[in-house]
Amino acid sequence: MQLIRMFSALLLAAGGLASGHPHAHDEHEVVARDSIKIAPGPSDTQIQFAPLPSTVDSVPINATLGYFVGDLGGGVYWVTDGTYSNMFLVSTHGVIVVDAPPTIGHKLLYAIGNTTRLPVTHLVYSHLHADHIGGASLFNATHPTIIAHAETLSLLASLSPRDPLRPLPHVTFENNYTVRVGNQTLELSYHGPNHTPGNLFMYAPAQRVALLIDVVFPGWAPFSELAISCFIPGWTAAHDVLLTFDFDVLVAGHVGRLGTKHDVLLQKKYIEDLHDSCVSAINGGFDVTAAIGPTVAANPGNPWAEFKAYFRGAVQTCADNTTSRWLGVLGAADVFAFENAYRMVISLMEDV
Ligand SMILES: *[C@@H]1O[C@H](CO)[C@@H](O)[C@H](O)[C@H]1NC(C)=O
Ligand SMILES: *[C@@H]1O[C@H](CO)[C@@H](O)[C@H](O)[C@H]1NC(C)=O
Ligand SMILES: *[C@@H]1O[C@H](CO)[C@@H](O)[C@H](O)[C@H]1NC(C)=O
Ligand SMILES: *[C@@H]1O[C@H](CO)[C@@H](O)[C@H](O)[C@H]1NC(C)=O
Ligand SMILES: *[C@@H]1O[C@H](CO)[C@@H](O)[C@H](O)[C@H]1NC(C)=O
Ligand SMILES: *[C@@H]1O[C@H](CO)[C@@H](O)[C@H](O)[C@H]1NC(C)=O
Ligand SMILES: [Zn+2]
Repeated sequence: MQLIRMFSALLLAAGGLASGHPHAHDEHEVVARDSIKIAPGPSDTQIQFAPLPSTVDSVPINATLGYFVGDLGGGVYWVTDGTYSNMFLVSTHGVIVVDAPPTIGHKLLYAIGNTTRLPVTHLVYSHLHADHIGGASLFNATHPTIIAHAETLSLLASLSPRDPLRPLPHVTFENNYTVRVGNQTLELSYHGPNHTPGNLFMYAPAQRVALLIDVVFPGWAPFSELAISCFIPGWTAAHDVLLTFDFDVLVAGHVGRLGTKHDVLLQKKYIEDLHDSCVSAINGGFDVTAAIGPTVAANPGNPWAEFKAYFRGAVQTCADNTTSRWLGVLGAADVFAFENAYRMVISLMEDV
């Protein structure tokens, strides 16, 4: 409702365009409608985005195998197929797996099987999303103990029908939980909703490895709509929480390389820049009357159309302002510039 109130105030500021005169079914209306797109899809399949900087360079992935296993020391390994990543820890008593992205799928069994003969005894879910844990049932054979945040259990249990590919966690907690198996220690902590409710911070202190999924995209601009995150203030604050851990490398869930504190700081700067540019855009940074006028005139009594025209103006202003500073600094800063600015504008209206 916050949004509606804000938007009404904005329409008043724009000179009461909401009560524009009807011009139903004329050519102008069609043109106005077609030109307004919130999230431009692949309508222009020839679109040429800016070249990718070397910040995005992936670890080498053997094309025959389709995956890469990196040794992080002390029995900790990360696995990537170039797009997704996860982690496993070999202990003296069995293997602890964190996440099971379905794109890696059975290749995760090979990655583990070629590293140790020990069975997978524990499986930890970072968060409920199927693209990160939808391969979990691959481990059904060894009946691992599944550990997750209480919110993750609650959300998975609420699915109707339940997903057989994401078995329900057996062990849940609210704040902190330490997974101790044989000689390995993995500290799990929850700091409130960010990308999703229940999305966990993980830290292996002996190896100085951190894991946080769908927050930082090392070397790349964030994925569309700020990684399709549910709570942007929490997602933004997660950068600072992550920096409180004493880690050398970060397993981030996406892209073909690990992260460092430098990557976290750089993305934090990007988010701050995007935030400031979007604040500037919605506080007089574009001509609202010019942006929504034709749409309002062509769509009398249709506030959804007005919202769309307003968003388009505000979001494009913010995206254009931000993108130029990040091309060549973070990969694909132009690709989801609009979608990321859109998510930020919505957050500025809804979450503050
Ligand atoms: C890729 O993996 C296959 C199968 O293990 C192996 O035969 C091949 O030598 C590897 N290629 C490279 C370039 O390492
Ligand atoms: C734990 O044991 C595994 C398996 O023997 C070994 O690979 C790993 O280095 C050990 N890690 C630590 C932290 O002791
Ligand atoms: C080792 O990996 C290869 C392919 O990458 C796979 O065919 C084989 O089954 C794996 N071995 C084990 C024990 O998982
Ligand atoms: C995996 O095991 C769980 C029970 O732990 C079961 O609910 C689920 O259906 C199984 N999934 C598959 C694909 O076998
Ligand atoms: C939980 O973990 C966080 C982060 O490691 C820490 O700041 C906090 O003090 C811990 N809380 C408890 C009750 O152990
Ligand atoms: C871009 O955003 C900054 C705030 O980050 C603001 O000061 C500046 O006026 C904006 N420029 C344009 C052209 O919108
Ligand atoms: Zn996710």
